[in-house]
Amino acid sequence: MQVVNTVVELRHAIKAWRIKGETVAFVPTMGNLHDGHLQLVREAKKLADRIVVSIFVNPTQFGVGEDFESYPRTEQDDQKKLAIEDTDLLFLPAVADIYTPDAKTTVTVSGLSDKYCGASRPGHFSGVATVVCKLFNCVQPDIALFGLKDFQQLAVIKTMARDLHIPVEILGVDTVREPSGLAMSSRNGYLTVKEKAVAAKLFYSLCVARDAILAGVQDYNAVEQQALLSLTQAGFVPDYFSVCRSSDLAKAAPDDRELVLLVAAKLGKTRLIDNIYFSR
Ligand code: PAJ
Repeated sequence: MQVVNTVVELRHAIKAWRIKGETVAFVPTMGNLHDGHLQLVREAKKLADRIVVSIFVNPTQFGVGEDFESYPRTEQDDQKKLAIEDTDLLFLPAVADIYTPDAKTTVTVSGLSDKYCGASRPGHFSGVATVVCKLFNCVQPDIALFGLKDFQQLAVIKTMARDLHIPVEILGVDTVREPSGLAMSSRNGYLTVKEKAVAAKLFYSLCVARDAILAGVQDYNAVEQQALLSLTQAGFVPDYFSVCRSSDLAKAAPDDRELVLLVAAKLGKTRLIDNIYFSR
């Protein structure tokens, strides 16, 4: 596996593949890799000749008082894991390479970025859209893979690529979970042993709500309130629990068929998100 730190080296390596007519799949990450990330790499390998992974803890998607400084940085371990998965190239840029000091341009996907996680984390999705747009321009992949675990993020990125005519196919990959049902996340490492046992109830609350809807409950407001109550009783401080239409994340109406339930809640110091998508 080739490891490069600069955009110039990255472009050089990719150009050599392009001359041979090879296709490129891209998996952007912030590192501290777990099986969820590696699943994206495995799926990518089925779809392209060459796999590029980036590790970049993006400062602009963290708000004031969030965990940018303490975000786990485990590059040595990450490199070993990626080499085992036969990754072709790891891009490990410095902040100054991605955000040149004279940069004046940001990317904002309006509307979609303002609700749910965007409401609690102002500026977060602009940070995500800006860095992903920059990374797309650096790598120029044929296909890029993202986790459905971050459902709203995926919607923001798909909209950004569509609106800016970025010639990349964007694919969502199913959420990889612990045996308990807890969605794998780099932030799970912040949980105490006791909290980790409780954390699985986040996914359970989604399953209960989905089953109620599939059994015919149509009062989505009541479903949301019940889920918020059970999360509070389990020890979470819920941020939101929303029954949404999966196409545009608007509040679901009774005749919508493709749904996603989105949840975010704090457990101790750790903010967790999860979702479940289904047809009814
Ligand atoms: P990060 O949290 O490192 O996640 C990188 C990718 O892995 C994202 O597409 C995310 O949705 C996916 N992922 C995380 N946990 C997963 C799981 N349990 N199952 C499947 N996929 C999972 O998301 C980011 O980084 C950043 O916002 C980024 C897109 C890299 C922009 O900075």
